[in-house]
Amino acid sequence: MPVSRVKKNLVIFAITTALVALLLFLVYYFEPSLRASFVDPVADRDMHAAAASSFDNIFKITKIVLWMFLFIIIIRGINGLIFGFAFRLRKGYEAPNLVRNTFSIIAYIIIFAILFKRFYPATDLGAIFATSTIFGVIIGLALQDTLGNLFAGISLQADKPFQVGDVITVGKWTGVVESITWRGIKIRTFTNHIVLISNSSAGKESIEVCPRENLNARLVLFNTLYTDSPAKTIHIVREAVREAENVSQKIRPVVRIRDFSDSSVDYEVKYWLEDYAKYNDTDALVRQRIWYAFRRAGLNFAFPTRTLIVERKGKSDGLRTDGSEFIERLNAVDIFAPLSAEETARLAKNSVRRVFAPGETVIRAGDEGSSMFVVHEGKVKVQINDNGTPRTVTVLNEGDFFGEMALFTGEPRTANVVAAEETEVLEIGFQAMKHLFDTNPDLVEALTHTIAERRADLKAKSEDARPDPMESAGLLAAVKRFFGIN
Ligand code: CMP
Repeated sequence: MPVSRVKKNLVIFAITTALVALLLFLVYYFEPSLRASFVDPVADRDMHAAAASSFDNIFKITKIVLWMFLFIIIIRGINGLIFGFAFRLRKGYEAPNLVRNTFSIIAYIIIFAILFKRFYPATDLGAIFATSTIFGVIIGLALQDTLGNLFAGISLQADKPFQVGDVITVGKWTGVVESITWRGIKIRTFTNHIVLISNSSAGKESIEVCPRENLNARLVLFNTLYTDSPAKTIHIVREAVREAENVSQKIRPVVRIRDFSDSSVDYEVKYWLEDYAKYNDTDALVRQRIWYAFRRAGLNFAFPTRTLIVERKGKSDGLRTDGSEFIERLNAVDIFAPLSAEETARLAKNSVRRVFAPGETVIRAGDEGSSMFVVHEGKVKVQINDNGTPRTVTVLNEGDFFGEMALFTGEPRTANVVAAEETEVLEIGFQAMKHLFDTNPDLVEALTHTIAERRADLKAKSEDARPDPMESAGLLAAVKRFFGIN
């Protein structure tokens, strides 16, 4: 033990002894029952006897104090042996301070009672404590807070809502629990300050506990411009964050849209920590990773913006452009190969770009259809209903087209088409195609051929045994009739 601590302990011992002596004096002075038992009846009448009796009392009290001193040292030793050594050996568990202190206090009281009884066998200490008004006052006033803390501490120990090493928030304080004593909870805040919260005030507050052995989660907020796609953002951020230091590998981070606010799409990333006490550093690292991932992926953080939409009359679709960026895509679609450059450019101009989230339905079986689609970016799944569960018939990739069957026959949509990932499609309407049919009879035949093939495929896969009412020749006639072509 360092010298300064020994000194400190001696001072505390001296003050405590003085206080106990004062207490005994007060009780002796004000409590007739106690005085009666201290004072020899003969001494009341005889001056010499009175002096001898006082001297005898001082002698006895000094002896009690010295014995107490010896026993305090012994009790501390036993305390250290039981809690510091035996407990740890047997259970690998460290007894909390509150338990250790309670053990010592009870032992001190018992030893004091035994010593007192030995020196003053005629005095009934229990009766004095029970009946004494002065003790009531002392306990009522001086020990009010202390006892409040002690009992709140005992209930905290019994409930065990948190332990040393857990992160807790009590009122405005958040930090790592360093100790739980009979007086209060000591926490170390994230600015490395120590805060002592008395047990009684902790008992009145609601306490948020993030246990050390628990996978605790954090939310980090960020936002993007409205023009950035959510599916891409979610994927990019999740991948950027999942391997950051102290982010748990046991649960994959979750990225969600929180809100559509004035100038931004607001997101949150929820991630779980290995060591919750380091959440400030980890939050910062997660934000850093998001920034770099945004840079690489060309995503943009939002800033206050105002969007000015200029609408040209007759063209109200915000995603309609002059179509030049679609020409290359349409050129790569096999059925459009016979078209002239001018026709492809016109078709591109009449195409509308539409974006679908992963899992979103582009076409629903049974609906009416007045347009067809070309996969511009991404992929879609063609699905049929198999006893209530969707079954994928085929997957169509960039440059493939779909939706032509209903468009060209006037029949309902034959299958569901669902985006397999974030997908951009070009939608081509009835009028745009009709115009092409007038000048490109080959196109009608190529399309009819595809339709016939797909119908056969669908039929084979859908266990529909009925014969197809329209074979290829009949189909061609039906298409021509539908479009009013001779
Ligand atoms: P439509 O019937 O208008 O709507 C569903 C679309 O799924 C259909 O047009 C075709 O474009 C497409 N489709 C249906 N069956 C198949 C298939 N077997 N192979 C490829 N595409 C298909």
